[in-house]
Amino acid sequence: MSVIKVFDTTLRDGEQSPGVNLTKQEKLEMAKQLERWGVDRMEAGFPASSKGDFEAVKAIAQTIQNTSVTGLARTRQEDIDTAWEALKYAEEPRIHLFLATSPIHMTYKLKQTPEQVMENAISMVRYARSKFPQVEWSAEDASRSDWQFLAQIIEHVIDAGATVINLPDTVGYSTPAEYGDLFRFIRETVPNIGRVELSCHCHNDLGLAAANAIAAVENGATQVEGTINGIGERAGNASLEEVAVALRVRSDYYQYATNLKLDETKQTSDLIAKLTGMYVQANKAVVGRNAFQHEAGIHQDGVLKNRETYEIMTPEMVGVKTDTLFLGKHSGHHAFQDRVQELGVDLSEEKSKEAFAKFKQLTDQKKEVTDDDLYTILMEIQTDT
Ligand code: KIV
Ligand code: ZN
Repeated sequence: MSVIKVFDTTLRDGEQSPGVNLTKQEKLEMAKQLERWGVDRMEAGFPASSKGDFEAVKAIAQTIQNTSVTGLARTRQEDIDTAWEALKYAEEPRIHLFLATSPIHMTYKLKQTPEQVMENAISMVRYARSKFPQVEWSAEDASRSDWQFLAQIIEHVIDAGATVINLPDTVGYSTPAEYGDLFRFIRETVPNIGRVELSCHCHNDLGLAAANAIAAVENGATQVEGTINGIGERAGNASLEEVAVALRVRSDYYQYATNLKLDETKQTSDLIAKLTGMYVQANKAVVGRNAFQHEAGIHQDGVLKNRETYEIMTPEMVGVKTDTLFLGKHSGHHAFQDRVQELGVDLSEEKSKEAFAKFKQLTDQKKEVTDDDLYTILMEIQTDT
């Protein structure tokens, strides 16, 4: 079994979700949960992007012991220096440098020739390596880049000291067969590729992020990047829980494992939902409310006879509790509050009373109040001023 490293970017790419802005305390709380979940690397933020992010990354670097902490930086000396100031306290400081390699990004965004991009990447990786023991270099928009150019720049960047090469599908454009081919091509073409880890980073614009990540792993990726619940820019990133659970459930087929403690998955999912207000849809794989519910009579009958008829994994495996109390018009404040806490939300006494009043109003209209209803109430309470 080869172990695939998990690189979590919930606190950086995930925090780039429209409308999300976590405080330092919230980021620290989430970082501790990510450490409990067992991610190998966590991207704590983008230190040069703001004073707030710098402080949050520094606090995380000073606190987290069992996970390598990394920060994002452009290929600029000032960004690298700032990242070092925030990350030098970490047990294993790591920097993540990115520079676009696709024609559209080089021409219109960077306004640089491929030669200039190559030169910049090499010199900044070399500079970063004079400070950081671990340097990840990302060819932003790799999936829309020229493969020959990618192979050349990667070879030089490895010689300059990169320890991880990441090939992001920045705009979620790739498909599994094509993204897998890209990884195989890079593995087979770049002569020094064996000296580094090879990473995938997928966005979900076409709903293919988790599938693309698995295709990359099948074709030589040794690290998977993503976020819990798949949060992130636009349609989000690869959901790490989906990728990790797929590898575990299908370990009969794939010979890959991760270091994630899967029974911490639901906790991790609930915490980010609470902190961001981005609650997952009921039918979300692995962590959605319906992921372990059976509605049709034939399915319920099958499950009662043998759970494996319709369940490919157990709720316990991912930390989902299924013995939750029915919430309806006879439920009291206590039962209501217990359920809210199970969803990972702590309400002040005043907010709890307010939420309970809304809950009671709803029980006049509905027999059963579901977690989705509760999430709606909680969202209303959080946005009430
Ligand atoms: O999607 C992307 O290309 C990124 C880079 C910063 C790695 O998030
Ligand atoms: Zn990204």
